Amino acid sequence: MINTSPSIQSISVDHWKPNIPSDGGIELARKLESGGVLFLPRLSFDLEPEEQKFLDSRWLEGKTKNLSLEKEEALIQGALGSESELEGLGKMVGRFRTNAIHLVRTLFPSYVAGLRPGRTSYRPAQVENRKTSWRKDDSRLHVDAFPSRPTQGERILRLFANIHPAGSPRVWRVGEPFEDLCHRMLPRVSRPWPGSAWCLAALGITKTRRSEYDHLMLGLHDEMKRDTDYQRDCPQIQFDFPPDSTWLCFSDQTSHAAMSGQYMLEQTFHLPMRSLYVPELSPLRVLERLTGRKLA
Ligand SMILES: [Fe+2]
Repeated sequence: MINTSPSIQSISVDHWKPNIPSDGGIELARKLESGGVLFLPRLSFDLEPEEQKFLDSRWLEGKTKNLSLEKEEALIQGALGSESELEGLGKMVGRFRTNAIHLVRTLFPSYVAGLRPGRTSYRPAQVENRKTSWRKDDSRLHVDAFPSRPTQGERILRLFANIHPAGSPRVWRVGEPFEDLCHRMLPRVSRPWPGSAWCLAALGITKTRRSEYDHLMLGLHDEMKRDTDYQRDCPQIQFDFPPDSTWLCFSDQTSHAAMSGQYMLEQTFHLPMRSLYVPELSPLRVLERLTGRKLA
């Protein structure tokens, strides 16, 4: 194991179908569930010769920043092209999805029963070129939390691959541990007003009920992004993920910011609390311990 920083853990896996870990995945899971980023510098997602043409942002439709597959066998969304080109794009992104699912299932056998693969995204555009509001600005450190998609404590696991053909890294900042950022930001987040979860769901603003956990996670996300002093001064490292490398983290726990880069594939997974190896490390349990309340 090559150690880069406490928050980035380099592991030597070089195959999308690696051997099952002899300890059942506990050692790697502890690193991941502690909020670490698992970095696989020798694991690349290789394009077929006929897929090289997809390394171009012209495939993006309008203002979208992602081409995406919602599920297995779905049609690619957000892309421009002829029927056969879209089919080719879908095949490439679908192959990445299959590899990502296989890798996570193999490395973490305990996740298998509960793991739900979500959206697969391909981001061919430059990160730096995106202009957006502070709340949507992912070049500010944040933990993932989404206004319309409450999780009730279910985890968001994300796997990324840099497929840049000309050597450009994907540059991230990784911030302080989750519990440390809670100590700093949680006092700024007010409690939800009574009845708000019902109203948000009734108005169609949330897809399911927004639990107090979701409310606090959104509050942390917003307070972190809003505070420019925090963005500049909080404990953090910058890390360059080179082309032909892969990495994964629980993005609802690891404070992260995407600073630059182009051509990245991303697979989202949803994982119920019961599948975790060490549930007490999860954001839900940390927040419940800090607030002294049941939150979901
Ligand atoms: Fe994010």
